[in-house]
Amino acid sequence: MSRLANKVAIITGAARGMGAVTARRFVEEGARVIIADILDDAGQSLAAELGEAARYVRADVSQAQDWDTLVEAAEEFGPLNVLVNNAGILHFAAIADSDGEDYMRIIRVNQLGPYLGMRAVLEPMKRAGGGSIINTSSIDGLQAKNGICAYASSKWALRGMSKSAAIEFGPHNIRVNTVHPGGVFTAMHGSGDQAEPSEQDNAFYVNHALPRVGLPVEVANMNLFLASDESSYSTGAEFIVDGGWNA
Ligand code: NAI
Repeated sequence: MSRLANKVAIITGAARGMGAVTARRFVEEGARVIIADILDDAGQSLAAELGEAARYVRADVSQAQDWDTLVEAAEEFGPLNVLVNNAGILHFAAIADSDGEDYMRIIRVNQLGPYLGMRAVLEPMKRAGGGSIINTSSIDGLQAKNGICAYASSKWALRGMSKSAAIEFGPHNIRVNTVHPGGVFTAMHGSGDQAEPSEQDNAFYVNHALPRVGLPVEVANMNLFLASDESSYSTGAEFIVDGGWNA
């Protein structure tokens, strides 16, 4: 299959979880990918598994200079067409128990990171004749839960950032969309070493339209659609992959 033939992509947080599965799907569909993360062992082993079409680059998304390194590495593969801002961290804390530093740690990774990424890829994507940026928000960017003020703030912010960037970048044929995963079975979700969700993992979702936890590949396939030219008229839009949680 070659839905991403000749595309070069940067995927952040791609050493594990949804980012890693997205990297696998993109390579299967003909893309060359930069796996950006701070987990060196996992990132290098995924790059080795994917072969010549992938390279691991250590990058902290909250550091502007690391974005220069990522763009440079991507352009060694060819013109840069795709950015998936997938890296994210989650920390539960009541507002009463947290301080500004807690809050800013999440904002720096989940919100500043994608902003720096969009800024860094603008000129390279213009040089490439266009591109697609996918910002990973969350069901928590559409609703709220107790104890996730910082995380929800960062994920709601991504929606406004994405729409604003879509308007600014549209004239350069650069699309910017947001993906909202629901509960997805990854390390962030407490998957541990389990490959498949157990009945207990699915139990929390019993009242959802689709009564089970989501799988990383189900979000990766949405990323694939948005990265490909199949979504060529979608920008500034929001795509929910939550099994009907928000229905
Ligand atoms: P995960 O924890 O399995 O993977 C996140 C990756 O981001 C890790 O490899 C981690 O090392 C990397 N990362 C963290 N901080 C970084 C930094 N400063 N620079 C570069 N990389 C960094 O999480 P998962 O579940 O795959 O999440 C991916 C995205 O999806 C995140 O943005 C998360 O907020 C979002 N999400 C996850 C949901 C879930 O149920 N798992 C639900 C909704 C959204």
